[in-house]
Amino acid sequence: MSTLPSPTGMPRRTFLAATCATGCLAAAGCSAGAATSDRSTTDTARIAVSDVPVGGGIVLPAQQLVLTQPQAGVFRAFSAVCTHQGCNVSEVRDGTINCPCHGSRYSITDGSVVRRPAQEPLPTYAVTRTGDFLTIS
Ligand code: FES
Repeated sequence: MSTLPSPTGMPRRTFLAATCATGCLAAAGCSAGAATSDRSTTDTARIAVSDVPVGGGIVLPAQQLVLTQPQAGVFRAFSAVCTHQGCNVSEVRDGTINCPCHGSRYSITDGSVVRRPAQEPLPTYAVTRTGDFLTIS
């Protein structure tokens, strides 16, 4: 389980990849479409590594997380809570993580602001890949 501070007040959580998580709402290239969840009461979700598209990512609204794969085999995780006024980002498209409220966009590589009004980057989480599984802490 995570030992990192929770910048958004989220409970600590661990995500293991196996199937596309519930709320694969805005996955650029997430062909699964109908996401399934294997989330348990211990706040664990199973997410298929293959459901995180190269050059894109997926938004996991229920977990308030964004998973991206900016380059093949390189995974990043960010808070889905926009640093502008707290809306949840809604999609990953064309290399950015996009907030629907006022148009802020963040880099899928490091969560930095690509387009304002947000001024602060998205908080990041560590991602560890073990086989077909991702662990986010
Ligand atoms: S809350 Fe996201 S751009 Fe304003």
